[in-house]
Amino acid sequence: MRNLGPTGTGADTQGGSELLRDLQLALSKPPHAISPKYFYDAQGSRLFDRICDLPEYYPTRTEWGILSEHAAEIAEVTGPGTELIEFGAGSLSKVRLLLNDMRPRRYLPVDISVDHLHRAAASLRAEFPWLEVAPVAGDYTGSIDLPPVAWGARRIGFFPGSTIGNFTPSEALEFLRRAAQMLRGGGLLIGADLLKDPSVLDAAYNDAKGVTADFNKNLLARANRELGADFELSEWWHSAFFNPAHSRVEMHLISRRDQRVHLGGITFEVAEGFSLHTENSYKFSIEGLRGLAAIAGFRPHTVWTDDRKLFSVHWLIAP
Ligand code: AVI
Repeated sequence: MRNLGPTGTGADTQGGSELLRDLQLALSKPPHAISPKYFYDAQGSRLFDRICDLPEYYPTRTEWGILSEHAAEIAEVTGPGTELIEFGAGSLSKVRLLLNDMRPRRYLPVDISVDHLHRAAASLRAEFPWLEVAPVAGDYTGSIDLPPVAWGARRIGFFPGSTIGNFTPSEALEFLRRAAQMLRGGGLLIGADLLKDPSVLDAAYNDAKGVTADFNKNLLARANRELGADFELSEWWHSAFFNPAHSRVEMHLISRRDQRVHLGGITFEVAEGFSLHTENSYKFSIEGLRGLAAIAGFRPHTVWTDDRKLFSVHWLIAP
């Protein structure tokens, strides 16, 4: 890819948004990669919700099945008198499977999308009137400002969905390290997608309806909407495949032809076949996840899986 430099005069390529900076960087130089966090504007979140309902995308309903089948046992190992903290809580749907058995003293959903969080918290309060819900606005990939823990309570973290798989290995370790400190005396309940036959992964990330392709391309659509870029969506194709050397599904956007793109005052000349790496979704072995957790300071305890061993939910004690 050749960066043709700013067009016109006085183009602002410095002070723009984080997305602008990161996308310009990804287009300019190797490894031509950008964080998957940019998928999730309102449209991207809607597309992700649709992915979760697809027949090919097994993680959501498999984890759902594990949590509902083992809710009582989960409540038993996590114990009474807890404060439940959900990282990246979103619409608070999976926690509903645990609340009646766990009966936490307080539930603290953490999310950056504040408006959505407050709406979701209000509907949860209506459904579970006995539950104290205290939403926390914050980015769980950094340090979170939590209110002081209630007297005598233990903090239990909840991180479902295998979102840990979208971190780089060092980000995953860093997240687990911080969580182990924050949850000392309690523990973390975490969902992790498992290594499996690549054909199952291939189908899950290349669904027949093309919803995952739209989700991937939403990155470019978002740049068009928010940054006035002119990505021609039909000139990019969605590529997703399992990379066994890294135990991860990779998603890329590939340019179908030589093309020019204008973004934040810079013209990029994109060659046919150029690949923008948009997401990694790491898949774990049970022992691999437990090993990582142990390095981060947890004592791995119970693991629950489904019959086909597609997905795992781990209870990690934070001593
Ligand atoms: C949110 N995350 C765990 C999803 C995954 O499977 O890595 C995001 C996703 N990407 C494509 N499909 C779903």
